[in-house]
Amino acid sequence: MLIKRLLLSSIITSLMAISATAQGSKKARKFMVATANPVASQVGYDILKRGGNAIDAMVGVQLMLNLVEPQSSGIGGGAFLLFYDAKRNEVSSFDGRETAPLKAKGDLFLKEDGSPMKFFDGVVGGRSVGTPGTLKLLEVTHRNFGSLPWEDLIQPTIQLAEKGFRVSKRMAASVERDAERLRTFPATKSYLFLNDNTPIPEGTLLRNPDFAQTLRLIAAHGSEPFYYGEIARDIVRTVQEAKGNPGKLSLADLRNYWVIERPPVCHDYKQYQVCGMGPPSSGALTIGQMLGMLSHFSLDDLSPNGPKFVHLFAEANLLAFKDRGLYMADSDYVDMPIKGLLDPKYLEMRSKLINSSRVSDSMSPGVPPTALNYKLSPDASMELPSTSHFAIVDAQGNAVSMTTTIENGFGSRLMTRGFLLNDELTDFSFRPERDGQLIANRLEPGKRPRSSMSPTLVFNSKGQLHMAVGSPGGSRIIPYVAKTLLGVLEWNMDIQEAINLPNIAKNFGTMELEVGTSAEQLKADMEQIGHKVRVRPLTSGLQGIVVTPSGLVGGADPRREGLVLGE
Ligand code: GLY
Repeated sequence: MLIKRLLLSSIITSLMAISATAQGSKKARKFMVATANPVASQVGYDILKRGGNAIDAMVGVQLMLNLVEPQSSGIGGGAFLLFYDAKRNEVSSFDGRETAPLKAKGDLFLKEDGSPMKFFDGVVGGRSVGTPGTLKLLEVTHRNFGSLPWEDLIQPTIQLAEKGFRVSKRMAASVERDAERLRTFPATKSYLFLNDNTPIPEGTLLRNPDFAQTLRLIAAHGSEPFYYGEIARDIVRTVQEAKGNPGKLSLADLRNYWVIERPPVCHDYKQYQVCGMGPPSSGALTIGQMLGMLSHFSLDDLSPNGPKFVHLFAEANLLAFKDRGLYMADSDYVDMPIKGLLDPKYLEMRSKLINSSRVSDSMSPGVPPTALNYKLSPDASMELPSTSHFAIVDAQGNAVSMTTTIENGFGSRLMTRGFLLNDELTDFSFRPERDGQLIANRLEPGKRPRSSMSPTLVFNSKGQLHMAVGSPGGSRIIPYVAKTLLGVLEWNMDIQEAINLPNIAKNFGTMELEVGTSAEQLKADMEQIGHKVRVRPLTSGLQGIVVTPSGLVGGADPRREGLVLGE
């Protein structure tokens, strides 16, 4: 009870003390937490301060993010966790990704004439909702690694949901931008709009008693009501009765959901070992390919803001995405050449396709060793920016790097019991095949959609934890995280400096340069060597912590509302 009272009073104080845009590099000696929202960072800090470990803090942070940043993540969605257990000196990865309903088939997003639906016709409504995994992930990992009582970690969010929180600038802008879609469903509309039907403005005191009630059940009974009981029934009813676009999710899907511990995908970069989430995420493999190819160029002679590096980075990005589109999907359903994709000789060969002074014409998927008999078609499924990332290092040296999502901003736009339901099924290819060949990331019953989420942990040559990092941003998560890794590992930048570097992406045909940064000045140079260029916002939400000999150094992305706290 004492913990509960202390946590609550500390949150209320922080609500008054922390400005909505607080962010910046921070140093600490014992523990640190970096999340996308100041209130969520404060909950993580309070838990660590009371002696909780990184997994305890993860539970508190995730539930608070669900309340105060509902557009990005929550118990209606899925997540990937990279966890470093300091005592055992082990890194493990946990897959809490959504699954496709057992009754869904590969034609879920096809129209009657066999052509794919428009993206948002698939997103909005029950059709896109996969079986949520985040709550089960919290519960399973807390049961195995947590130290504080489960219910104490949930109390701060219950109490703030009841008392109300101030709507942040980013949340208010997100509601306004998406107002038309959000008004489709009565529960969502009544939560996110004022009585006169205008979107809730920044600073509104927003109460969510339905979510408080949901969390009370979860605090008392764990995930049981969510996967088997009254919350499960409400989720299924909401999906199956969604006006105009019902979905296939059933009670059987919820009952059969499980979290999978998978081997992390690790690769070497210089003296470091970089570990991330393997399939169904494409994150670690694609980042590993990019860094592996770039290691064949003398990057340390180049400026991270100069034209030579930007060109090389973009070409490595595109080449890696060619393999991603052809081979990467849920490896429980598709035989993937995981080892071959990171084979050093293969990556050296692929790096030779990069011409260092102009755009190369030969950018197609390669044939990694062990992938000789593949007959697949490339996929270019859309993944729009959304999602949230947080990093935690506790006083015992354990670390959490977790990327968590309900997919599109506000997910399917369906709300039940105070939380939003994901639209993760739109991360599958809408087409199951092309030119008579199957697409690896096609929808199949029970399968997990391919992700770009890239929660990452880096270890030094002695095997000690060096860094935890990740980002939201749809498929651009991959170049955002790759850029930050290079900033720290290649150029020895402070994590905040690395996060602040201009974002660059070339996932598909066009090079994207971040508007309002020095990168936009490279447009003419890049066009001259053959790139098609677009200058645009590239709103990463990178959060990272680096372990240095003098303590922890944390950074939060100034492009969003993140905050680092530590002691
Ligand atoms: N839905 C975003 C991702 O999984 O990459």
